[in-house]
Amino acid sequence: MKEIAVNVGILGTGNLAVALGRVWAGAGHLVVVTGRNPENASRAAGQIGGAAQAVGPADFAAQVEVVVVAVAWEGLEEALSLVGGADGSLSGVTVIDCTNAVDYATGQLKPTSGSAGELVARVAPGAHVVKAFHLFAGASWPYAGPRDSAPVVAICGDQPEALERAGRLTEDLGARTAVVGGLASARQLEEAAGFVMRVVAAGWNPRLAVPDVDPALLNAGSATAN
Ligand SMILES: NC(=O)c1ccc[n+]([C@@H]2O[C@H](COP(=O)([O-])OP(=O)(O)OC[C@H]3O[C@@H](n4cnc5c(N)ncnc54)[C@H](OP(=O)(O)O)[C@@H]3O)[C@@H](O)[C@H]2O)c1
Repeated sequence: MKEIAVNVGILGTGNLAVALGRVWAGAGHLVVVTGRNPENASRAAGQIGGAAQAVGPADFAAQVEVVVVAVAWEGLEEALSLVGGADGSLSGVTVIDCTNAVDYATGQLKPTSGSAGELVARVAPGAHVVKAFHLFAGASWPYAGPRDSAPVVAICGDQPEALERAGRLTEDLGARTAVVGGLASARQLEEAAGFVMRVVAAGWNPRLAVPDVDPALLNAGSATAN
């Protein structure tokens, strides 16, 4: 089935913004970028290429159907306020939060009250928030290997339509989606990113630090036990 192009607004102008924006612009979506620094937004749009455009924060919300938040965790509230989130500009909009409140060098979680995903929902009332794309490095995308080895992006959120949208954008990255629960699960997903970074900091490939579990066999096992 042919994908439907959506207007993807990226809030953030750094590495992840460019990496995701490139893939989605290449997939035919209309990508706009904004941030606190207009020069950085223009540079990011240029790096994304295609028809991607930088827009001012005040014009951002009116142009987008999906917002992808790719700013440093420390700037999360400021960035959402910049685009009018606090005034309801993102009400009803799918807002995908990619941020990590994690010290990248150590994997240690920064002290926060609750998850970043839930913070987005509080700061941008009415937004349909999905936590996604925080675990894999932007450089992972697009994945172009065999389908049965494609990365699985674990996501969570409360609105089925927003989860579906995030799932379609995940497909464009070449990945698959596992919906693990509502937005209340965001902290657990965020801690998984910290766990991965901690294992890396300890000198190991995190792929080797989780069990290899085949759900088909697991289900067959419980069916037998019952
Ligand atoms: N890079 C990855 O592969 C990756 C993967 C998964 C998740 N993430 C997460 O995605 C987010 C962005 O990561 P990144 O690697 O793209 O970082 P980055 O390259 O350092 O870019 C950070 C972005 O955040 C903005 N920012 C910082 N403080 C701000 C503030 N107070 N108000 C508004 N904007 C502010 C910066 O704006 P200026 O340009 O004005 O400084 C810049 O646009 C982080 O939360 C990170 O944990 C990154």
